[in-house]
Amino acid sequence: MNRFWEKVKTKNILVIVLAVFIGIQFYRPEIKQKPITGEIHVPSDVRAILQRSCFDCHSNQTDLKWFDQVAPAYWLVTDHIKKGKEGLNFSEWDQLASPAQNAKLWEAFNQINLKAMPLKSYELLHPEAKLSENDIRILKNYVTSLAPKQKPDTAKVSAYNKQLQQINTIHTVAPKPQLPTALNGISYIPDYKNWKPISSTERLDNGTMRIIFGNDIAVKATKEHKTNPWPDGTIFAKVAWEQIIDSDGNVTTGAFKQVEYMIKDSKKFASTKGWGWARFLSPKLEPYGKTADFANECISCHRPMKDNDFVFTSPINH
Ligand code: HEC
Ligand code: HEC
Repeated sequence: MNRFWEKVKTKNILVIVLAVFIGIQFYRPEIKQKPITGEIHVPSDVRAILQRSCFDCHSNQTDLKWFDQVAPAYWLVTDHIKKGKEGLNFSEWDQLASPAQNAKLWEAFNQINLKAMPLKSYELLHPEAKLSENDIRILKNYVTSLAPKQKPDTAKVSAYNKQLQQINTIHTVAPKPQLPTALNGISYIPDYKNWKPISSTERLDNGTMRIIFGNDIAVKATKEHKTNPWPDGTIFAKVAWEQIIDSDGNVTTGAFKQVEYMIKDSKKFASTKGWGWARFLSPKLEPYGKTADFANECISCHRPMKDNDFVFTSPINH
């Protein structure tokens, strides 16, 4: 008797599950296949990698497998395609100016290198999208080759010398009555020059050298290994200079390009991942950003580090 009812129940449940499964197939948000307006032009080996691993979500040439077409997987895929294309679309590449294209490729390479792209959930079902060490090397070589040629550059040197004076004025003279302020309300912090350098990096694609400074709270947190999350009050300043190669081949820092800040305040900056973001472009320390939500740009590039409180730099411990 019991057995009989159990069988009926199991059967009913199966029928319901099947019905629901079939039912949900009818809810199909459309993937709009837009035309290819200006495709990316890169060497064929680079293109092959991008096409294989990225095009499904970052181009107008989405090629879904049958299992991608079955709901609920289909819903996830359509959402990924929509969001993916918003930030990066290799089929509408001509809409970016050339420096922006190079910056995007650099960002793409970074995301791959940090294993943030392609999305893990996608890689599981599309093992062919996984990038090999060799693929990564090919991309790196290509992105590096886009860097401006590093020749001895007298124009850069003299621009630097001219700037040195201006900067020394900006940086050493008593604080100006009004500091430059970004649209999200964050002001330039002149004090970073007294902070501790935490790390330095070279950016291959655009020939700059960078130093990252941390304030006292950042340094203390590092010593105490309390860096994930970083405590409120932490501030990072990342400063970039042009990189100059002098006639002897020595690499030195050239003109001051920009300083960027990340200021930790988990309450005040809750809407931007707990950090206040700002960038000031030299020599006039012009605040970066056309609207107050420019920080979304910063966040999307820092997203691969979301499990590390959005911070790339891992300071050397003392
Ligand atoms: C399954 C879909 C999918 C695939 C495949 C994929 N991405 Fe993404 N990508 C996304 C989504 C979704 C976002 C939006 C950010 C997020 O949600 O993490 C994104 C964001 C990005 C961004 C940041 C864009 C911005 O807003 O500035 C870059 C760069 C990027 N992807 C590069 C790549 C590269 C390079 C590949 C191939 C190696 C790749 N992605 C493959 C879905 C995908
Ligand atoms: C193209 C990708 C990209 C964008 C866009 C970006 N960053 Fe970063 N940022 C990085 C990388 C990569 C590092 C790690 C250090 C390095 O390689 O220079 C970094 C490091 C930093 C650091 C030092 C702390 C850390 O995370 O290591 C600060 C501060 C910073 N960025 C601020 C900003 C601000 C403010 C913006 C937006 C105005 C911004 N970033 C936009 C890629 C980006």
